[in-house]
Amino acid sequence: AASTFLHSSSSPALKFRVVAQCSVSRARASVMTLPHHTVHLPTFMPVGTQGTMKGLLPQQVKEAGAEIILGNTYHLGTRPGKESMKAFGGLHQLMGWDRALLTDSGGFQMVSLSALSKVTEEGVKFQSPYDGTEILLTPEESIAIQNAIGADIMMQLDDVVDVMEKDYDRFKIATHRTTRWLDRCIEANKNPQRQNLFPIVQGGLHPDLRATSLDQLIARDAPGYAIGGLSGGEAKDQFWRVILQCTGRLPPSKPRYCMGVGFAVDLVVCCALGADMYDCVFPTRTARFGCALIHGGQLNLKNREFAVDFRPIDDTCSCSTCTHYTRAYIHTIVTKYPVACHLLSVHNVAYQMRLMDNIRSSIIEDNFPTFVQDFMAGYYKDRD
Ligand code: GUN
Ligand code: ZN
Repeated sequence: AASTFLHSSSSPALKFRVVAQCSVSRARASVMTLPHHTVHLPTFMPVGTQGTMKGLLPQQVKEAGAEIILGNTYHLGTRPGKESMKAFGGLHQLMGWDRALLTDSGGFQMVSLSALSKVTEEGVKFQSPYDGTEILLTPEESIAIQNAIGADIMMQLDDVVDVMEKDYDRFKIATHRTTRWLDRCIEANKNPQRQNLFPIVQGGLHPDLRATSLDQLIARDAPGYAIGGLSGGEAKDQFWRVILQCTGRLPPSKPRYCMGVGFAVDLVVCCALGADMYDCVFPTRTARFGCALIHGGQLNLKNREFAVDFRPIDDTCSCSTCTHYTRAYIHTIVTKYPVACHLLSVHNVAYQMRLMDNIRSSIIEDNFPTFVQDFMAGYYKDRD
């Protein structure tokens, strides 16, 4: 029988099917089957840097509805390290997470955490924040750690240049180096039957370099692709142009991951532009500063006005924080006790999950344009 799916692809460790396509935008709803779990896209991946979402237990991330989470190779390679990770049988075992897992390759974290990092053709060199020793992360070592972690999706080591960098030649070198590092990563992958490797499109804000990167990476016929090098303070308009260019070229039959994106409005726009997966530390980071995500912005629970506000953060939210606690209670304990950060993280992750669910259902029900209109009207309601 003919396939009823609009687009689909199948590789040893990933099956992807587009189940609904918006008729007036590139937005699509899809299903991605990975070795540990089947993931409904578009989706947001909460970030669990060291095998834990800051302020949340894996169990609670699951209850919030997350089907896939993100772990960082750089942190896990440092502690507990590759050998103990192997001895544990991987991160799924170690953290008691039975759903899908994606790991970033580590270089981006090293470059963004350390001013002392240095990129050469060999890899990314930097000083350990633990003991000051010099560490070299090569494409081979990144994949060896990610193989030990056992992630369903591994990211290639890429040469990420700060998007605000002025030197075109630096972007050009990074674009070509990222392809060479991809080939070294593919060669180093010891577990291609169970672990997918995603290339990362680079090229900064330069259309010609993005086009080169797209040509080279698409030729490698990977199970899915990421768009990197964005969300570094560039103008929204430039950010959208890059996503539009990339989603216009990447195969429609494969998942597209937009790295480091997590503001609600960006999620809605990038879905309209045809991206399927997102991650960002923003929901849990902002929780640590006492902020709750609500439609149209954030509530800073430190503000005095909440001392006598006996409503939940969001009376339409069914998370355990909104079910059991008031704004006044959270205001009382916020920033003084870790449990306040925990309550806010529960809500903020639930908020992201519900947003993605609403985007997905609207695409399936052929209502996405109306969803976007309502979302934008609500989002910009009380602003200039
Ligand atoms: N996280 C956010 N952006 C990037 C990127 O360009 N590369 C990698 N590896 N991780 C990211
Ligand atoms: Zn809530």
